[in-house]
Amino acid sequence: MSYDIAHIKSLVEPNRVHRDVYVDPEIFELELKRIWGRAWIYAGHESQIKNPGDTYALTIGREPIVMARAKDGSLHVLYNRCAHKGAKVASEGCGHSAGFRCPYHGWTYHHDGRLQALPARAGYADTGLDLENPAFHMQPVAQFESYRGFIFVCFDKSAPDLKTFLGDVAATLDNMADRSPEGEVEVAGPPLRYMHDNNWKMFIENLNDAMHPMIAHGSVGSATRRLAAKMPEGATPSAEAEIIFPFGSSYQFFDDLGVTGLPNGHGYMGGKKSIHTSYSDIPGYYDSMVASYGEEKTQEILSQNRHNSIFYPSFTAKDAVQAVRVVRPIAVNKTIVETWHFRLKGAPEDMLKRTILYSRLINSNASMVGPDDWDCYARMQEALPSHSTPWVDMRRGFGKDVTEGDHRTSFGTSDLSFRNQYHAWLDYMTRETVA
Ligand code: FES
Ligand SMILES: [Fe+2]
Repeated sequence: MSYDIAHIKSLVEPNRVHRDVYVDPEIFELELKRIWGRAWIYAGHESQIKNPGDTYALTIGREPIVMARAKDGSLHVLYNRCAHKGAKVASEGCGHSAGFRCPYHGWTYHHDGRLQALPARAGYADTGLDLENPAFHMQPVAQFESYRGFIFVCFDKSAPDLKTFLGDVAATLDNMADRSPEGEVEVAGPPLRYMHDNNWKMFIENLNDAMHPMIAHGSVGSATRRLAAKMPEGATPSAEAEIIFPFGSSYQFFDDLGVTGLPNGHGYMGGKKSIHTSYSDIPGYYDSMVASYGEEKTQEILSQNRHNSIFYPSFTAKDAVQAVRVVRPIAVNKTIVETWHFRLKGAPEDMLKRTILYSRLINSNASMVGPDDWDCYARMQEALPSHSTPWVDMRRGFGKDVTEGDHRTSFGTSDLSFRNQYHAWLDYMTRETVA
């Protein structure tokens, strides 16, 4: 069927959404144009293209792009499409080169996209081919901006700037970078990358779904409680136990964290408190922070502790763990999720080890937690198309939000975060001008 605005509006009610938003391939294609084609989307981190000549190619929805650092140190984000006959120029992932060279007929480009040369050029004499003409260049994306080293792209040239788009969720990236004594993070190694059998929104929703850990991760919760009960009084838990224990927390614990919804579908849980608050100190870290910032500022930085922040639609971040989880929609029921880990520049290497340990215990497909979530997503994707009721419920805490400026808050297990995301979804999907 074909979707007109009225029909799209009928899919989202104040406290429930129609299953078609998760299972209809036509809705998925519209999302790529209207959400992924309009919002600022996370592409990667500047440290992935640290040195002149470094490149990183990726695909966002149906758009192959490549980030590059040119000889003069400038950053560029281009469509990864040859100006000749359209071949994808750079292979996916990282590279390093003097410039781009198309593997088909050998047109070469500078890292800023300008056409550099092409073989047997005499054959183009008097045809209008001109190296200086932008029509023969690799094309830049409409907009890109870097915030604290995190590079975002936007395929809509009329979209407002990145800072306006991010609003208060930017504080999560600030905090992640501020937790480095040098004020900068850098990518550490390749990501964990898994294909999930579910719609992209299920992952984004789950990250602030505080009603599922007690059930979906119940086996981890009960095992950690048994382990904790066996520990001698006053004993320090191992680094592993410290990370796993909070997954056995109560409904009350998550309620107390609170949840915040922001404009454009962004949001976060926690703020002063999260499942990471009671991690023990890593020797040397606090001192290195105080040496850079002084005592008061260090305490202020370390007191921000958001649980998961949602950068709708493309990624989630944990400031206190220095990891981001990036969503790459492939099909209505296929999503790549990448987990990237960051080193706090100037901090002891043990800080990075804890970040990696967290991912190994929680995000990896060999972990005790991640597979519980993927199984639930796949179950939803499987059962939603059935001839049962078409509605997906999001009414928990409905009517109890507290509004202050552009922040809406509620108790942590409220469905506020989902309703906030669908508010943005509807706005993107029903705006008349299609990018
Ligand atoms: S398609 Fe790239 S050189 Fe021909
Ligand atoms: Fe989970």
